[in-house]
Amino acid sequence: MCCLSPPARNMFATSAILAAALVAPLLLLLRIFWPYFWKDVRLAANLLRVLLTFAARRRRKPAYLVLDRFLEQAARHADRPFVVFEGATYSYRDADRQSNRIANALRSRCALTQGRTAALFLGNEPAFLFAWLALAKLGCAAALLNCNIRSKSLLHCFGCCGAKVLIAAAELADAVGEIKTSLEREGVTVLVLTRECNTPGFVSFLGDVENASEAPVPRSLRSEVTFRSPAVYIYTSGTTGLPKAAVVNNTRLLAALAVLSSNGVTAEDSVYLNLPLYHTAGFFIGFIGSIEIGSTIILRRKFSASQFWDDCRRHNVTVVQYIGEILRYLCNSPKKDNDKDHKVRLAIGNGLRADVWKEFLNRFGDIEIREFYASTEGNIGFMNDTGKIGAIGRTNFLHKLFPYALIKYDTEVDAPVRDSSGLCIEVGRGETGLLVSKITDIAPFEGYARNKEQTEKKKVCDVSKKGDVYFNSGDLMRIDEDNFIYFQDRVGDTFRWKGENVATTEVSDILTMMEFVEEANVYGVQVPGHEGKIGMAAITIKEDEEPDWESMFSHISSYLPAYAHPRFIRIQNSVEVTATFKQMKVKLVEAGFNPSMVCDPLFFLNDKAKTYIPMTEDIYNSIVSGTIKL
Ligand SMILES: *[C@@H]1O[C@H](CO)[C@@H](O)[C@H](O)[C@H]1NC(C)=O
Ligand SMILES: *[C@@H]1O[C@H](CO)[C@@H](O)[C@H](O)[C@H]1NC(C)=O
Ligand SMILES: *[C@@H]1O[C@H](CO)[C@@H](O)[C@H](O)[C@H]1NC(C)=O
Ligand SMILES: *[C@@H]1O[C@H](CO)[C@@H](O)[C@H](O)[C@H]1NC(C)=O
Repeated sequence: MCCLSPPARNMFATSAILAAALVAPLLLLLRIFWPYFWKDVRLAANLLRVLLTFAARRRRKPAYLVLDRFLEQAARHADRPFVVFEGATYSYRDADRQSNRIANALRSRCALTQGRTAALFLGNEPAFLFAWLALAKLGCAAALLNCNIRSKSLLHCFGCCGAKVLIAAAELADAVGEIKTSLEREGVTVLVLTRECNTPGFVSFLGDVENASEAPVPRSLRSEVTFRSPAVYIYTSGTTGLPKAAVVNNTRLLAALAVLSSNGVTAEDSVYLNLPLYHTAGFFIGFIGSIEIGSTIILRRKFSASQFWDDCRRHNVTVVQYIGEILRYLCNSPKKDNDKDHKVRLAIGNGLRADVWKEFLNRFGDIEIREFYASTEGNIGFMNDTGKIGAIGRTNFLHKLFPYALIKYDTEVDAPVRDSSGLCIEVGRGETGLLVSKITDIAPFEGYARNKEQTEKKKVCDVSKKGDVYFNSGDLMRIDEDNFIYFQDRVGDTFRWKGENVATTEVSDILTMMEFVEEANVYGVQVPGHEGKIGMAAITIKEDEEPDWESMFSHISSYLPAYAHPRFIRIQNSVEVTATFKQMKVKLVEAGFNPSMVCDPLFFLNDKAKTYIPMTEDIYNSIVSGTIKL
């Protein structure tokens, strides 16, 4: 500026003042009318980076898949810890070699070739990750079976994905044994990850793996895999019937790589993974997200409130994954002096309620919380990246590209409300409505494997104009004046308990298999101090039959995972139905399991006694006060 003449310098000063005078009010206006301007800008920049990376990879030939990202990391940082589990550390090189062994063993044992599918029936353990990598190396898709399901459900889920190979953990061999006859009929090869297996016909696969070569799997074995090929099948309990397999193809999996990197997680971070790997959250965020950045996964078999912070301290965990229940359990555990002594800086997950959110930050210190909303098969997602307590995200300009609406929903008849011309009705600001999102080329809905009927059921037509098609999220939401979105509830036919979705029709199908049960109406009821809803059933008894509670208990234990058990059963003379013969639930949900509100005979599932016992005021009070743990 030294070379400017005095008049020019004056002019410069004047224009600077003028500019400041103009800009200042502009910034002020911006703050008032667009308070999240900078957050939106940052969000947009971040998103742009993610999109460009994705687009560049999407153009590469041969197809660049998640596996290729893993191989890059393994080549670049072979010695970096990839997964730490129960005292053992496996580097990226270890994971690469171990998955080569599994792949080579699979080739010689059952000639798995590209385009086929194998099912994984494993709990959280490193073998889950290695087996998935092995299947990817062979160009095969993996069906991720929920390791809690048994008998009829297990057989159904396995059947959905068309696999002829089932890889099971040693401790799950007995569960597979229960459906052995049906699997044999279908010519399924069962590989158990053990050295010795007592069940005739099952292969003890660990010996194979230990003896197999660790030589890399030739690329030619997966040369035909495209972005459209299915990569994983993930099971979801939808609104009706048995679980369904949502297809995740390679494009979608590639997009999932960005989940941690876009939240500022780097290779220096250690990610604590205690959610089931067979669910979207654990698999996509913890596992796939870590591959992108080359971070370390601290893997746990399952969540433990008493071990959580000790684990975090022992392993220098910096990022944790959660579902709302987990943070609530942590807040409910006894206070300790070292509650704030840890390196966790980021928690990423969903289902966190505002009260728990506040309490969590108070108690465990300044941890950034990234609450998001997305479903396995859905075509829309929200991310809370501004720190608004309680919100799952905020609508912004990006959602113009991905149109969605909150529409009026009649919970009693379980259907959207329609106007005189047959279109849906949007709810106003602050009102609760069903989230539906438009199905378009850039927001596709893949549907469920081998289940056209269920796929169609997830679509809502004629939402804002005749002929349009939307995806029904099954979730009730509310949007406030500042565009923050809040999760309210799930609609009719499902409820969540212990982080799992329970389909009411699946449970009632199982209940009505009992000789004495005429009809069963299943729903979820709230328990004070708990996230989600616990299962309850209203049943009618067949004429001349008597309830047999012990066999009821053993029946549901063999057919349903524990989180889906109806904890309470009330006996009605008849099941109320709507004009369209749908079962009425709203009044039943309201009455809940309080014996003073329910005049019907009411029963309580007692785990220790292995039967249902009559519900009493004492039991009720113990549940409400938390003396009886559910
Ligand atoms: C593995 O190799 C050893 C030594 O060659 C052999 O004795 C053993 O039977 C092999 N195990 C399997 C399961 O093939
Ligand atoms: C899979 O990926 C492609 C893009 O590569 C996408 O357009 C398609 O809808 C996806 N789903 C299926 C079932 O092909
Ligand atoms: C955790 O961090 C401390 C201090 O930075 C370091 O001394 C220790 O070795 C780390 N532990 C692990 C398991 O990485
Ligand atoms: C996202 O989470 C943070 C907490 O880190 C919270 O302050 C913010 O309000 C949330 N953003 C939205 C949009 O809900």
